[in-house]
Amino acid sequence: MTDPSPAHAAAQDLGVQALHAGYGEIKVLQGIDLVARKASITAVVGANGAGKTTLMQVLAGLITPSSGTISLSGTAIQAQPTHRRVAQGVVLVPEGRKIFPDLSVRENLLLGAVTARARPHRDETMEQVCTMFPRLAERIGQLGGTLSGGEQQMLALGRGLMAQPSVLLLDEPTLGLAPGIARQIFRIVPRLRDMGITILIAEQDLHRTLRIADYAYVLENGLVAAEGTGEALEQDPAVRRAYLGRD
Ligand SMILES: Nc1ncnc2c1ncn2[C@@H]1O[C@H](COP(=O)(O)OP(=O)(O)OP(=O)(O)O)[C@@H](O)[C@H]1O
Ligand SMILES: [Mg+2]
Repeated sequence: MTDPSPAHAAAQDLGVQALHAGYGEIKVLQGIDLVARKASITAVVGANGAGKTTLMQVLAGLITPSSGTISLSGTAIQAQPTHRRVAQGVVLVPEGRKIFPDLSVRENLLLGAVTARARPHRDETMEQVCTMFPRLAERIGQLGGTLSGGEQQMLALGRGLMAQPSVLLLDEPTLGLAPGIARQIFRIVPRLRDMGITILIAEQDLHRTLRIADYAYVLENGLVAAEGTGEALEQDPAVRRAYLGRD
């Protein structure tokens, strides 16, 4: 692989303080505090409905929090619209991929690189993405909608990388994928971290996620039920409870 480090994407950290958010009357996040440290993998794990996607969408600027702060390397960004966050390198790879089915793989990837931050590096990043995901390179002219689920997830990840992320928000990147493809994704995430990207990953696959995470938060009903290193959390009864809904 050519030098994968996006030198222009200086590592940043992302912090959340006392974050509340929901949908109208429905309160989902009820006071979240967390930190995704520079160039590390931070996991947010929790059962269905715990609030992982809501958190990711708030961080990406797609949902406005009712209160609380979000800081990017010390600067409050909670009032900024999505495009300004993307311009600073905060990039979401959404749950369910959300690729454009009627556009080719190449066109989908190029759409990731429309910002002033990413555009000048477009060709070079495209090469890096194609090296990282040879399957995408082989299918570069194929329509996004005709890719398999796993290939679509690679495309969604590739599109995120095209944006030159400094903070990459990955919402359940292995959801619904065959074990082999999920393993590939779990192998790639640490490589992205090693390139200097700050990763915040929401996952239900507890054990595999804790194994790659430098630090993890367990979300339960919109609150942090436990936090710690992956190793410590594997032993924590709160984790079991958060998943099974009982002790
Ligand atoms: N658009 C919406 N309107 C109303 N309630 C919503 C909406 N989206 C999510 N919710 C509710 O918010 C809560 C948290 O949902 P969220 O999608 O954040 O959970 P999650 O942890 O991502 O779950 P999963 O693992 O299933 O993806 C759930 O109770 C859900 O029903
Ligand atoms: Mg979700």
